[in-house]
Amino acid sequence: MPIEQDVSSLPDEVRSVSIKEQKVFDGIPFPLILSPSEAFKDNDSQFWNDWVKRNLQVIEGLLLKYGAILFRGFPFETPTEFDAFANAYDYNAFVDIGGVGVRVNVVGNVYTANESPPGSMIPFHHEMAHVKDYPLILFFYCDLPAKEGGDTPLALSNVIYRKMAERDPAFVNRLEKEGLQYVRVAPDGNNSTSAFGRSWQATFRTTDKQEAERNAKASGYDVEWLEDGRGLKTITKVLPAIRVDKRTGKKMWFNSVFTFSITRQDSRNDKTNAAIFPNGDHIRDETTETMKQVMDEARVSFTWQRKDVVIIDNRAVQHSRSDFFVPPRRILASLYKDHQGPI
Ligand code: FE2
Repeated sequence: MPIEQDVSSLPDEVRSVSIKEQKVFDGIPFPLILSPSEAFKDNDSQFWNDWVKRNLQVIEGLLLKYGAILFRGFPFETPTEFDAFANAYDYNAFVDIGGVGVRVNVVGNVYTANESPPGSMIPFHHEMAHVKDYPLILFFYCDLPAKEGGDTPLALSNVIYRKMAERDPAFVNRLEKEGLQYVRVAPDGNNSTSAFGRSWQATFRTTDKQEAERNAKASGYDVEWLEDGRGLKTITKVLPAIRVDKRTGKKMWFNSVFTFSITRQDSRNDKTNAAIFPNGDHIRDETTETMKQVMDEARVSFTWQRKDVVIIDNRAVQHSRSDFFVPPRRILASLYKDHQGPI
């Protein structure tokens, strides 16, 4: 049965459509999917850029209510047209200084979403949740869908929080009260076989150990040199793990415990020790299993169609990437800071 949607507040030029992959949380479908109305389906991309400018408040209201909007069936034929559509919102482009993924600039403020190959896991996360200055609005564009797989699953962070609080209240209580610290061992020299093998020299932009220490401390890390040249261990300050979105009062699962606990494993790093409580307690295996189940339940995954654009409120919605896909696949990203500020 199609999902009932309240479309009374939509501008005439668009209609909401439902697809089988959509899910309903708290009576609201997720994500919202918009297509051009019949009378506007042949309009060009410039029309839609002007439409954004005229309807910005309405679109922002929809984004706040739904968390993410999939624009399907719009005439954004090229990355340049996608760039112009994202620019029409008149947000400030986000300058990526703290990210760890590899991105290549395509045009304007448009970058490849992630260059890592099929099979490398990208679990649910808020974009750069642990960089002080993180992007607030993410635009994704499907330039070339994979022949198979390669979805960009989405999840409402507040739903993740609530489900975790039901399943493991003691753990969530500790997260709220204590926060988390994140540990990484940076190798001596880059290690390209690891997804987080950026060397201490490259991380802290020096080959001098004392200067690296100073730079690390200035960036908010505590550091420890490991024996036998095994690298530099960096430990973040205690960071909040649950944040309240000041616009809605909703609690968000705004942390990296899931990602770190399942992916931060290489010859230097131990994933059970990558996210820890301030007293050094590790995340238990059962907790990681519970997080996996909850992420699966909250996950909404749709098959990309060419020219799809998704707008994500990075304060409220997490994204991930399906492990499996048949290349080639080209999903592009454009990151912004809107005018509402962080949570
Ligand atoms: Fe991401």
